Amino acid sequence: MAERTRQAISAGRDVVDLTLGEPDFATPEHICAAAVKAIARGETKYTPINGTTVLREAIVRKFRRDNALDYDLREISVGCGAKQILYQAFLATLAPGDEVIIPTPYWASYADMISLNGGTLKPVEARLVDSFLLEPAALDAALNERTKWVVLNSPSNPSGAAYTREQLKALTDVIESSRYKKFWILADDIYEHILFDDRMFATVAQVAPNLRERTLTVNGVSKAYAMTGWRVGFAGGPRPLIEALTKLQMQITSHTASISQAAAAAALDGSQEFVYQCRARLQARRDLMLAWLAKIPALACPKPHGAFYLFPSIEALLGRSSPEGERLGSDVEFSNYLLEHGVAVVPGSGFGAPGHIRMSYATSEANLERAIDRIWIALDRLS
Ligand SMILES: Cc1ncc(COP(=O)(O)O)c(C=O)c1O
Repeated sequence: MAERTRQAISAGRDVVDLTLGEPDFATPEHICAAAVKAIARGETKYTPINGTTVLREAIVRKFRRDNALDYDLREISVGCGAKQILYQAFLATLAPGDEVIIPTPYWASYADMISLNGGTLKPVEARLVDSFLLEPAALDAALNERTKWVVLNSPSNPSGAAYTREQLKALTDVIESSRYKKFWILADDIYEHILFDDRMFATVAQVAPNLRERTLTVNGVSKAYAMTGWRVGFAGGPRPLIEALTKLQMQITSHTASISQAAAAAALDGSQEFVYQCRARLQARRDLMLAWLAKIPALACPKPHGAFYLFPSIEALLGRSSPEGERLGSDVEFSNYLLEHGVAVVPGSGFGAPGHIRMSYATSEANLERAIDRIWIALDRLS
């Protein structure tokens, strides 16, 4: 959808792009300055595969400060974005027949990463009526002897749902008491800092210390510091798993760019003011979008707790027809219809949840207003 949107825009069409998966803010100046300094110091050579000591020390401090997690330097992995870490985790562990449990709706890339590595995605529905939070009983029912990973992504892309400490504990209790023990837990915390309404962030290894040796805690600088293009992600986890990831990375990309690593260390160690400001702005945008959505009962949408997406159901609109007489039978057709009206969104099917659309509000307030006006017109024209 992002590609189709780019094509439409480059063909001269006026499209408000709500497909974006990255903050629309610029990387803070002090982070860019750290990169320039690294170049001036000649830090332009190969680094250790799993990251410079300076960066890994900053990551150790970050885990301690934000998550009360104690990792040592050999328990840290650094890659080209959280994406590379996730991919290597599956590459290192999955064999044919292995299942990866992921609540739906889920970030589309997980599905492809799992199938590319010979595993089987086992989607478990997190329902809209439960605010897209996985019910402990549903997790319990999905676990079996083939389970190799349970992936929890909070706040979630695409739903924005986030678990409180208690809700997460209810899930880790299920894992701890399960008779199946031979699986890993992946906490994808990439949206940790984009969490609203003064909620406290919680992660698996923190709420369930007994699971620390089975948990890979994945995070990065992309979303929190508007650094998507710098390509730095990291993880803390048990040493054997981290060593396996590093061994694979050695033959894939080696390390991520030395200059980006210097910038990431500055991001983690420097002032966190930017993070607070972004959070406040994104929360205001979420509220703007929710106030508008509340006026359209046909677009049912629970209040997202974080990230920068809304994931409304469009079920009530399916089956209706465009002014040209075209029946909108699916989320894909509905998204195409909105694109014709100058708004790009992503169909829910790609996230394992047909009958929904994902709308990103990581764009200016002016763009959001324009998108809202256009969606009103598009819905008004349906019969
Ligand atoms: C849920 C989730 N995990 C991981 C990533 C990867 O982030 P990066 O590779 O930029 O660190 C993304 C990016 O969109 C994401 O949405």
